[in-house]
Amino acid sequence: MPTETLNEDHLTDGVIDLHVQMKDPADPARGRVPQYHYKITLHGSEEEIGTIRLRIGEHPALLTAGHVGYFVAEGSRGRHFAERACRLLGPVALDHGMTRIIVTCDPENAASRRTCERLGAHFAGIFEVPTDHEMYAKGARAVCRYDWALNTES
Ligand SMILES: CC(C)(COP(=O)(O)OP(=O)(O)OC[C@H]1O[C@@H](n2cnc3c(N)ncnc32)[C@H](O)[C@@H]1OP(=O)(O)O)[C@@H](O)C(=O)NCCC(=O)NCCS
Repeated sequence: MPTETLNEDHLTDGVIDLHVQMKDPADPARGRVPQYHYKITLHGSEEEIGTIRLRIGEHPALLTAGHVGYFVAEGSRGRHFAERACRLLGPVALDHGMTRIIVTCDPENAASRRTCERLGAHFAGIFEVPTDHEMYAKGARAVCRYDWALNTES
């Protein structure tokens, strides 16, 4: 269960802030775990410079879709904000009993792959997208998968 000390709705590392925008509940009939959507801003600002979402829990479909999805607006790239945003979500995931965050991306997505490497995530490999996965219908055929082990000791 979430602790009372972590405010999972507003997170900061002093450089960027994450502001929760929406929390999708679980939808077991559709194989959906809860999903939190955050806006990324510079610290103290309200202006959106990107987004990140966290899916909470485990489901086989997440081996392909991953637990997080991030986007940084072009004008704000180059400062590792996606990596910072992921690091801010680590405690949220831990607070919900997760011990790892799976990040997947297109094998050609060098910026996302580098973000995973910088996080220290383990490269699990390149995997085919199952034909019955919703990402297949959207055209994805392969994903890189990284497992980011969370520090459960702190
Ligand atoms: C992926 C994304 C969020 C990264 O944004 P960011 O946090 O600003 O990342 P940065 O620009 O700081 O780059 C992170 C690392 O990737 C490297 N990188 C960025 N673009 C690269 C490219 N085209 N080729 C190789 N390396 C690249 C950077 O050099 C940096 O690594 P380094 O500092 O060790 O050299 C951003 O590119 C984006 O929004 N892309 C579109 C959406 C997307 O692809 N999301 C991921 C889906 S999982």
